[in-house]
Amino acid sequence: LAKIEIKTDEIPEGKSVTFKWRGKPLFIRHRTEEEIAKEGAVDVGSLRDPQADAERCENPKWLVVIGVCTHLGCVPIADAGDYGGYYCPCHGSHYDTAGRIRKGPAPLNLEIPPYVFAEDGLLIVG
Ligand code: FES
Repeated sequence: LAKIEIKTDEIPEGKSVTFKWRGKPLFIRHRTEEEIAKEGAVDVGSLRDPQADAERCENPKWLVVIGVCTHLGCVPIADAGDYGGYYCPCHGSHYDTAGRIRKGPAPLNLEIPPYVFAEDGLLIVG
């Protein structure tokens, strides 16, 4: 399927849920106020792949990323690692709750697919 529709009201705050999109895992995270504040305060210049939180999450409550490590393509584990976002167990890459690489060998942030928010809390990816 080229596009998928996700009902965001079924994802509780603080949870990252995995879907499948074009044969790849897709992580959708309903971020807490704490996570939003923490990622917004990160010094972008200190990042390996410098991207502000606002560039990554058009709606700060929602992170939408492809769940494929940018090192060699393993699937990271949600809610793990030193930055509370995602941890790739293959070679130890740590991503934050904006999906940005913070530690380990991965060169880039987790990829953001095209998506839009439609009415009634529907998220359309693809
Ligand atoms: Fe994720 Fe190597 S594939 S750290």
